[in-house]
Amino acid sequence: MIFAKKTCLIASLLMGGSMNVAAIAQTAPAAVVQSAESRADALVRSMTLDEKLQLIHGYFPPMAKPVPPIAMIPSAGHIPGIPRLRIPTLRESDASLGVANQIEQRKGDVATALPASIATAATFNPTLAYEGGVMIGAEARAKTFNVLLAGGVNLTRDPWAGRNFEYLGEDPWLAGVMAGAHIKGVQSNHIISTIKHFALNAQETGRNVLDAHIDKASLRESDLLAFQIATEIGHPASVMCAYNKVNGDYACENDWLLNTVLKKDWGYKGWVMSDWGAVHSTEKAAINGLDQDSGQELDDAMFFDTKFAEAIKAGRIPMSRLDDMVRRVLFGVIDTGLMDNPVPESAQPIDYAAHALVAQRAAEEGMVLLKNDRNLLPLAKTAKRIVLIGGHADVGVLSGGGSSQVRSVGGAPVEIPLSKGAAASFARITWHASSPLKAIQALAPNASVTFVDGTDPKAAADAARGADMAIVFAWAWHTEAQDPESMALPDEQDTLIEAVAAANKKTLIVVEAGGPILMPWIDRVPAILQAWYPGQRGGEAIANILFGDVDPSGRLPITFPASEVQAPRPEPVGLDSLHAAEARREAGDKTVYGMSGGVAPFAVDYHEGADVGYRWYAATNAKPLFPFGYGLTYTRFRYANLKIEDGAQLTVHFDVTNSGKRAGADVPQLYVQAKSAAGTTAYRLAGFEKVALAPGETRHISLTVDPRVIARFDEAAQGWKLDAGRYPLRIGRFAGDIGLTGAATLNALSIRP
Ligand code: BGC
Repeated sequence: MIFAKKTCLIASLLMGGSMNVAAIAQTAPAAVVQSAESRADALVRSMTLDEKLQLIHGYFPPMAKPVPPIAMIPSAGHIPGIPRLRIPTLRESDASLGVANQIEQRKGDVATALPASIATAATFNPTLAYEGGVMIGAEARAKTFNVLLAGGVNLTRDPWAGRNFEYLGEDPWLAGVMAGAHIKGVQSNHIISTIKHFALNAQETGRNVLDAHIDKASLRESDLLAFQIATEIGHPASVMCAYNKVNGDYACENDWLLNTVLKKDWGYKGWVMSDWGAVHSTEKAAINGLDQDSGQELDDAMFFDTKFAEAIKAGRIPMSRLDDMVRRVLFGVIDTGLMDNPVPESAQPIDYAAHALVAQRAAEEGMVLLKNDRNLLPLAKTAKRIVLIGGHADVGVLSGGGSSQVRSVGGAPVEIPLSKGAAASFARITWHASSPLKAIQALAPNASVTFVDGTDPKAAADAARGADMAIVFAWAWHTEAQDPESMALPDEQDTLIEAVAAANKKTLIVVEAGGPILMPWIDRVPAILQAWYPGQRGGEAIANILFGDVDPSGRLPITFPASEVQAPRPEPVGLDSLHAAEARREAGDKTVYGMSGGVAPFAVDYHEGADVGYRWYAATNAKPLFPFGYGLTYTRFRYANLKIEDGAQLTVHFDVTNSGKRAGADVPQLYVQAKSAAGTTAYRLAGFEKVALAPGETRHISLTVDPRVIARFDEAAQGWKLDAGRYPLRIGRFAGDIGLTGAATLNALSIRP
């Protein structure tokens, strides 16, 4: 009953949006779910033991040596199907930014590269997340993949974390809604999407050995809430458990996470697949909720292969559990429509030109204008001399590294291999072929637009001095498997920016980075555009924003701290362990190998609990460089006529007016102050909507709040509790902004977990 109401709230929020998101909000009709379950049941009943065992472990194609050999596409994973039952072979590929092809394991196989997920989150537009998912899912299908490991939704707890670019920011409501929409888009192609990494894989340093400590209620109110919302909206057929431990047990053998929270409390019917190399046991993992071992060759032993068969035969794992594991895999295969709509046998043509526009729209809406003194932007197309500096802006835009790396259409004009570090074997510093220089030249055909590479600050300053304006392309490469040890720009780019800014007062900075960077030069430059990793049309998107062909409308999905010390942890935890292992490896110690890289285990105390991101900065009275939700536009917006409907449910109504002279899009945000299980009282994002308005136009907005977003998780009662009382609220442009204020009086409410 209550569950139905929760789903309905999400649906009504999505459908109420001025962007048409009705398609995202539809939930699967109950009849289909029923039939998927009974069909899965019937299949399990007709399977032999060997057939069942075949579905619970996957090969890692680059390393697998099955006997007899089988044909596998070089990619993340392969699980042979069962032709006599029409159960398809599962061909798995990464990931959320497009069909990945890290270090070009499939020579010449390109795909459309979306911007980094954090850029998609910055659009605050679930429709774009959905469309991106539809697009990459279609490409996966056309390339004969049927499982896309797309759907990273770990909350950004630390601004420096290496994988933040693959995630959707620091807020559970924003991340949950965006991930749900993206997954729904992928699965609209009748293929499988995977939500990941469940849970608390919040840093890369020592990810295979670290033990994440947090109290359970706080985890429910933060990371798990993002997973829960995304799962309700997107119905992912599979969930990928994380590498790390959570409160003492590895996530892939964590009874509380997998059995209690996911399967019992949330009623999740799909399957739990492990991350690659994240399995550490047979019986414990199986009994505690893992359904499938992925990339089994990466584990210390193949726990779900012959060892599993032995455990079944010896009765250490009941057959009923194996049946449940298989039923869950088949449920996902049937529920997504994959069973009835198998992927083609061979690769099909792809409309890359149309897909590039999907990537470009997401890039354009995700860029965040952080600073624009004296309205320097948009640039006049009459500028005579513009010099671009650094960041390989003559040929392309940077992308993030690791398993999500797409080999984009157009190739990689710059690709730098790594000589060391945990990512060295599967990541290269890669630029997509989308030249900001060419895109800017196209928009300012009468100007002289030139490029200097920025390696020599003096030469760059000299070039800037003679120009009408200089645009520095600052970059910071981030990757899976490694955390940057500093948030400062690498390669002495701060010196470069200082030199250029001193030579030309009109120096704009375009930042290509997976998250916040430190900006010691901020007061000496008039304009800053956060372009993230903008994907394969990033160059065009940057040019369109700079010249005002597109109004900037991105908002920060993570807080940009003024310095590392403002963050809950100023640097990755476990660096000592990591450096010790690296030193041993360099000294020739051959025992330092494997997924953990010889890093000694350590704990990470997530003491901020549910107060992630902006809630942490508010609780510690820290003034960040730029707050969560922040972003400038080329026009102005005004809020008025706040009306609060409260009692049993909270709905907030207000008007947004474009009071400027240009068309543009705003993202009004609702923040409600509420008490957490830990007793803190931060304002929380409880709703948002992206709204495009012509000059002078007014739109009426209604936001209905999912009560869990403002509730506390009551461990004793094992459910959500909304206490009766007064809830102060604000409509603002970013966290901490006081636009319209009011208070709601709400009735007590209990909601099942
Ligand atoms: C990553 C996953 C990815 C998998 C397969 C792992 O290292 O953590 O996100 O899906 O590899 O490539």
